[in-house]
Parts: sequence; structure tokens; C-alpha cells
Amino acid sequence: MGCQYYSPSENGADSFTVAMPRLTVGRGTLREVGERAQGLGLRRVALFTDALLASGPLVAAVLESLTRAGIDTATFSDIRVEPDDESVERGATFLRDASIDGIVSVGGGSVMDTAKAALVLLCHGGNIGEYFAPPIGQGKPIPGPLLPHIACPTTSGTGSECTSISVLRLNELNTKFVIASPHMLPTVAIVDPQCCDSLPANVVASTGFDLCCHALECYTAKAYTQQAKVAAANARQYIQGANPFSEMVAREAMDIVGNYLVRGVNDASDTEARDQLMWGATLAGIAFGNSGTHLPHAMSYGVTHLMRNIVTEGYAIASPFVPHGISVVVNAPAIFRYTAEATPERHLEGATCLLADTQGATPADAGEVLANRMVELMKATHMPNGLTAIGFKAEHVADLAASSIRQGRAIANAPRESNRVDLENMYSNALQYW
Ligand SMILES: [Fe+2]
Repeated sequence: MGCQYYSPSENGADSFTVAMPRLTVGRGTLREVGERAQGLGLRRVALFTDALLASGPLVAAVLESLTRAGIDTATFSDIRVEPDDESVERGATFLRDASIDGIVSVGGGSVMDTAKAALVLLCHGGNIGEYFAPPIGQGKPIPGPLLPHIACPTTSGTGSECTSISVLRLNELNTKFVIASPHMLPTVAIVDPQCCDSLPANVVASTGFDLCCHALECYTAKAYTQQAKVAAANARQYIQGANPFSEMVAREAMDIVGNYLVRGVNDASDTEARDQLMWGATLAGIAFGNSGTHLPHAMSYGVTHLMRNIVTEGYAIASPFVPHGISVVVNAPAIFRYTAEATPERHLEGATCLLADTQGATPADAGEVLANRMVELMKATHMPNGLTAIGFKAEHVADLAASSIRQGRAIANAPRESNRVDLENMYSNALQYW
């Protein structure tokens, strides 16, 4: 803890909090969901999933496990990918009518984030818009605990099973924003790597870069000691900045990306690599769940806000659609070139974990070395070559920056300050990489 990165600052935080669900990891552990629910004293649960998974073997395994444990279920699958406030309102209405005492979510980030937000409305009322931070919402705090939530991820990227945030599209603004509250942290996370066995390569790549950026952003975030001290212990949010716990976990996740991302994407039969990526996604979720992300995630929301006429292979979703991981990674090399100046050693360390050639590199090279390694990984996993490859041109840069500058909390968590012009420059530098 004596690391120079966490040196005290005037009025800065002098403590940090670590939180995570009770976590179980291993092949076949979906069969434990029933016993876990029983252990929480549940009698009737809502099973949240999406329309594709609802009739598949993963949901069948969970339902069987719950039935075996004597627990009644009611299934809700009317959740769109990139969930919106309407998905949440539908979910909350379902929960109110279903007389449940807990919830099980089986799916990617969209499903888990919808479950978290629907529970907020069930337990504390109101409409979901009120809970977003100003100027988007009224910043209404979530006043107390939610019903128990058992979260079971089916992709190796989001880490939502281990975070206390929900990312939702507000239809009125056509943009994604984050609701954060310690009360949204799932009670139990069950991470079964068999869920990823049949994922298409492009989905493994996109979600893998989401996990990669969660870990890199956590590792390079502003130190918690440089963030304002919270007025009350219970007011401390997940965006508390880099800290000794989150950096330790993020480092392991970055190592996993370096060793297994390309293998896991390019060979569906490489079970070792895919299992490791699932573990890495959970680790990165725990890491950023206790620190927050920064510019790559903040700037991804401009991309998903303004995308037009674009679909991505591997996703059966109507246009326009850019997967979350792609919307994040497509800007990341340009962003790390910008932020490296503030924490060069950490950017270089991240590059080392990703197996960049760092021989002879000095701190002044950190941004270039990390960005170049990310570009190598993007090429090796057939990711789009910058914003141009997903339909954006130089003429869109100003609008992208104007959209993303609204993500104040994440931008403030970056190690280097940035204004709208800085965002425009980063988007310009992200148009094309090779
Ligand atoms: Fe993410």
C-alpha cells in the first residue's frame, strides 16, 4: 500500500472499499443455481434471460436446477440487446405481477443490467430515469437493499455479475448512461465457462476487448487518493479510482488477455483459452467494479449513440448495431496514446501484460507501445480498423465528442483531464489505425 501512486492529496480519499458477490467459478456450476437460491431462503424466483437463450440448454439447466431445489420460477425474456429503459419498465412490471422473492439472471450484460434495474423499481419504485446522475436524471439514490440476485454470465466480457452498475439506453436521448449503487451488486455470481463453448469468434473477440479495456482502464484510472473524500461511508460509489485491490485483480485479467485472447477467438475448440477468458472477464469485472472505468468506456457511448446502418457478424440483431466491446476498443489505442503521459509506468505495465515487446522502451514510449500492441491484437482477432470501419468519417468527430462529453463521472476517473476538443482529437486519431 506504500506505492507512490497512492500518495495522499489535500481533501482526497484516504480509504477505499472492496465489494464483490459470493462467487463460484467452474464448468457445470450452473447446476448449483437451485441450491444457491435455496441457501438464500428463496421460494419463487424470476428468471431473466433473452429471447435467444430462453429456449436453449443453459436456461434449461438453470430451470432444472431450480425445480430440483423445490423453487418456483417465472421466466422473463423480453429484453433487447443494449437494454433500454423500456426493457427495464417491462421487467419491473413482470416482477410486480410475479410475486417473487428473488431473481436469477442468465445472459450477457444486457440481461444482468436489466435485472438489476428492474429490481430497483420493484423494491423502491419510481421510474428508472430518476436514478441517473444529473444532468440526465435527478440523481435519486437507491435507498436500500434489493431482493437477492443470482447472476450467471453467458459471455466472457461484461463482468456485470460482479459490478454494482447497470448500463442502460435512455430512449428519449438515444444514448447509454450508467446507474451506480452498491445496492445493485448481485448477491451471488455463478460463472460457468461452458456457457462460452458455442460463442462465435466475433463475439469472443468483442467481449474479450471489453474485458481487456475494463482491466486497462481500471489499472490506469486516477488514484483513489486523488478523488474527493466521500461525505458518508455509505455514499462511496464503485467509481472510487484505482486502488491496491483493483490494480492487483486487473493485472491478472490483463495477463489473461495477453496469453489467451487470440487463441480463444481463433480456435473454438481451445477450451483452455476460452475458460481463461471467462475467468478473466470475471476478474476484470471485480477490478473495475471497485475502481470504475474511464475514457474508452465514456467515448464508446458516443459511438453507440451515433452509429448508423451497421451490423456485426455473429450477432443476430437489427441494424444499427455495434457490439459494446467493439465500440470501446475502436477508440482505445488513440485514447491510451493520450492518457499515457499522466501514468506512463502503468501504461507500460499494461503493455507488458498484453505481451508487447517492451525491450528498451522508456516511460516516454508508453502510449505508443500500448497502443501498438492493442492494434496488433485487434488485427489478430479481425476487429474493425478504427471508426472508419464502422461507418464514421472525420465529419462525425464533433458530434461524437459532444455526445460523450456528457459521461462526466467516467471522464473524471481518467488519469489525464480532457475537454471536448481533446475528445475530438482522440476520435480523429481513432478513425483508422492501419
Ligand atoms: Fe464494458
